[in-house]
Amino acid sequence: MLEADKLFAGSIPENYDRYMVPLIFEPYAVDLARRATAFSLGAVLEIAAGTGVVTRALAPQLPSSASYVVTDLNPPMLDYAASRQAPDSRITWRQADALALPFETASFDLVCCQFGAMFFPDRVAAYREAKRVLRPGGHFLFSVWDRIEENVFADDVTNALARVFPDDPPRFLVRTPHGYHDKKMIRHDVEGAGFSRVEIDTRAERSRASSPMLPAVAYCKGTVLRTEIEARGAGKLEAATDYVASAIAERHGTAEVTGKIQAHVISAVA
Ligand SMILES: C[S@@+](CC[C@H](N)C(=O)[O-])C[C@H]1O[C@@H](n2cnc3c(N)ncnc32)[C@H](O)[C@@H]1O
Repeated sequence: MLEADKLFAGSIPENYDRYMVPLIFEPYAVDLARRATAFSLGAVLEIAAGTGVVTRALAPQLPSSASYVVTDLNPPMLDYAASRQAPDSRITWRQADALALPFETASFDLVCCQFGAMFFPDRVAAYREAKRVLRPGGHFLFSVWDRIEENVFADDVTNALARVFPDDPPRFLVRTPHGYHDKKMIRHDVEGAGFSRVEIDTRAERSRASSPMLPAVAYCKGTVLRTEIEARGAGKLEAATDYVASAIAERHGTAEVTGKIQAHVISAVA
């Protein structure tokens, strides 16, 4: 992962929430919130919450006495999440790096994190932090994307951009969001941080969009791929996005498009 890969700022939060979240994140957020209800939910910490898709799904499942601390490294993402959430006295918004959580030891029942771990420069250190802030017997629930070949639009976008920039293809999607999918390695890292009863469930969903332009805009403008494309020349973003849309249309048609997405959902006990 490059240092720049974790910078979700500028117009990325808005485009991320408008286009990426409905395209690929929503079904997994609903699933994560459903899984969370099996655990004790008195004190919940969310890490790398982004624009709050899990927060919106999980908050309604929490008891009225619960506390829910929602965090992210990048304040612009968290500000966006807070702006989308109805006032809720159970929720505290706080900027926090997963590698140095500003919370006391043994203070949460559940730590959850959807599609954040791929961005952590030292995952075992981040998992150790999650374990530290969990009460003994508390649960850690998180997800990561499977390999890019199992995620059709991400793969299409990457292949199309490799044709636009043959000498220097933007590799953000392969390198980071889809760069941590080896189940043996994930189990090794989680157990290495001191967790037990590690379970990994691989879950496929369908991504749907009303036109090929939507996934093109979502990936090219609503992720850090935007920064990578813009770094290859001012003014390249629009042409690259249009080319990606035409490549998706060629493969999936010009009307509604659908494609497989797949992720690993991991649970472990502190
Ligand atoms: C792909 S987004 C996922 C956001 C959200 N959980 C969702 O499902 O839409 C990854 C998030 O990880 C955050 N992030 C990156 N590095 C982080 C770190 N070291 N600690 C906490 N959050 C981090 C980014 O700011 C971004 O919001």
